[in-house]
Amino acid sequence: MNTCSNRHSTQSSMFASLTAYLEDLQESGVDGIPTELTAVTEAEIAPYQSVPPEQSSENEVNGNTVPKKHETLEQIRKNMGDCQRCKLGATRKNLVFGAGNPKARLVFVGEGPGADEDAQGEPFVGDAGKMLNRIIAAMELKREDVYICNVVKCRPPQNRPPETDEVGACSPFLLRQLQSIRPEAIVALGTSAAQALLQTKVPISKLRSKFHDFHGIPLMPTYHPSYLLRTGGNSDSFWSVWDDMTQVLQFLNLPVPNKTRKK
Ligand code: URA
Repeated sequence: MNTCSNRHSTQSSMFASLTAYLEDLQESGVDGIPTELTAVTEAEIAPYQSVPPEQSSENEVNGNTVPKKHETLEQIRKNMGDCQRCKLGATRKNLVFGAGNPKARLVFVGEGPGADEDAQGEPFVGDAGKMLNRIIAAMELKREDVYICNVVKCRPPQNRPPETDEVGACSPFLLRQLQSIRPEAIVALGTSAAQALLQTKVPISKLRSKFHDFHGIPLMPTYHPSYLLRTGGNSDSFWSVWDDMTQVLQFLNLPVPNKTRKK
């Protein structure tokens, strides 16, 4: 077997183990993963990645576990390197890791880079990005206040949704990013992000409008900005997103700007 198909079969088996683990949890009555994000250890992540994270500084001193050194976003990016862990690595121009405040209270997670993002190496800089900027501005926040990233870091060809093996290969890095930032809330933008983070096949229309648990962090699924581009800036979906963002602002104890729908 060559290296490429080796990597493929490793990823398939990684995903199969992850799925089996989550199904076991579900069968034992666990709805979501109720552990604190900090409780996701490198040992849990390690089986799902082909390159181990940088050595942790966790140690036993006089029988006490000394907390592991905080992993920075730079360290995680460095660990991704010139990532070829899935087939998207071969066709991307730039790996789009994420951008924004490493100590953000709020993180937006999208699906994956499009053509503009692939060209610039920045998430949400194309038309969907302009719509996301509108949402962030309507919340009276700035892009620099929040952190923005995607489920997969490399552009899927023809902007197709990322495939299961690609999500499986990239998810450990998203988890580590979220573990590093430790935001107070997460917004999952669209079906791919919500379904990947919540490990479900439930459609976005059913997931949105309420918080779900993501490793102890409240996660609000909402429609993807690209969907709003199709439905328009005063559509029902646009106002549904605003309702979702209102809940997020309230949860963060931030002021909720008064917006009224044009007739
Ligand atoms: N769509 C996404 O999901 N992410 C981006 O970064 C851009 C468009």
